[in-house]
Amino acid sequence: MKIDRTPFELRIDDLTLDGQGVGRREGKACFVDGALPGELVYVEQTGRKHNFDTARLNAVLEPVPERVDPPCQWFGVCGGCKLMHADVGFQRRLKEKNLFETLSRIGRVTPERRLDPLVGESQGYRRTARLGVKYVAKKGGTLVGFRERAGRYLADMWDCRVLHPAIGQRIRALRQLIDGLDARERIPQIEAAVDDAGTAAFVFRHLQPLSDADQQRLAAFAEVEGLQIHLQPGGPATVHQLAGPEGSLRYGHPEFGVTVEFGPLDFIQVHSEINRRMVPQALDLLSLEPGHRVLDLFCGLGNFTLPLARSAGEVLGVEGDARMLERARANAENQDIRNTRYVCANLEDAELARMPWLQDPFDRVLLDPPRTGAAAAIEALGARGIPRLLYVSCNPATLARDAERLVHHYGYRLEAAGIMDMFPHTAHVESMALFVEG
Ligand SMILES: C[S@@+](CC[C@H](N)C(=O)[O-])C[C@H]1O[C@@H](n2cnc3c(N)ncnc32)[C@H](O)[C@@H]1O
Repeated sequence: MKIDRTPFELRIDDLTLDGQGVGRREGKACFVDGALPGELVYVEQTGRKHNFDTARLNAVLEPVPERVDPPCQWFGVCGGCKLMHADVGFQRRLKEKNLFETLSRIGRVTPERRLDPLVGESQGYRRTARLGVKYVAKKGGTLVGFRERAGRYLADMWDCRVLHPAIGQRIRALRQLIDGLDARERIPQIEAAVDDAGTAAFVFRHLQPLSDADQQRLAAFAEVEGLQIHLQPGGPATVHQLAGPEGSLRYGHPEFGVTVEFGPLDFIQVHSEINRRMVPQALDLLSLEPGHRVLDLFCGLGNFTLPLARSAGEVLGVEGDARMLERARANAENQDIRNTRYVCANLEDAELARMPWLQDPFDRVLLDPPRTGAAAAIEALGARGIPRLLYVSCNPATLARDAERLVHHYGYRLEAAGIMDMFPHTAHVESMALFVEG
């Protein structure tokens, strides 16, 4: 269809999680990057499809009070953040709307009670990241960071405000470090993690063996910056520390007297403050009693398992990643927590219901699946009459799909649900939902 470049005024009445304002022109939806609901904007058509148009924002004629100056100069270019032009309160309301609408549309469910959003710091919060690395001669050196919003190239960025400063304020130094390596064209990514004490670990993936000189350059950087450098020549099992302070990375749940040791590639919840609030809220909703037997599915390093063990009779943690499960077991042993057991299993297995460890009776279930959700686990457990099931989700669409089964097929009530602002400024929606039998 032909594009009409004549600029026009448009009133915006909605916002997608990708930060696109939505207005209607003669009844047809028009998506405008960077426009906010309530605003009158001056735009120019950039795309025309059968059922929607896209337009470029030329000017905001009537801004809304929720519009803010993005606190990051790379916003709009970097694809990491989508919502930085709206204040965080507005972002949270948008995410709540997305959660409840998705539950209703896909799951045909409405929670009996809305939980208050769990909120925390909106900058400097992100304690793990996978940073892309690319040597681009045309740009005069190495790029390190996230992909551009439009396109597949890395953003030309020098810092990041949402990353923990121990990572985000080191992007410039990492670019300069890699520029000076012989292997600068053979390092595709760096994984970064920061622990509660502020110790940062950077894992350099490299496609060919590193020269001695490069190893010395990396070690000198680790020494000067006081951080750990690990090398990853192959798969995750090949990660080993090259330089920097020895010792495990750690985060804690002081309220439960629990410390979780983790490796730099392990999954940890990205926002430590939200995590510290999320775990007690989950335990509270589960209404635990000292004799309860609890099943913790997708347990990772024991982030919920270990605090659960402080209040319940026995906890069975199930996880697919054997290395993380070993660490969960060690985390329990190191703290003399004796009422946890662990099983390594694929929780997407179609034969899940027949697995021997699932035949035990359970009083409570906690599930914290990846974005794909927990369909197989719901089918394996739905008819077992377990009184309370607490679902932690990073994807409202799969939560809603699984909620539909629990409520409309297995007779659960969706007693409560709410968001947790785990990823401010980004399009990610983290939430918690409590299902109660009968
Ligand atoms: C969102 S993380 C939650 C981890 C942990 N509950 C926490 O709070 O840190 C999801 C976990 O599910 C695990 N996982 C992903 N797919 C799986 C599968 N098919 N079977 C078992 N575990 C899986 C991942 O390894 C990861 O540890």
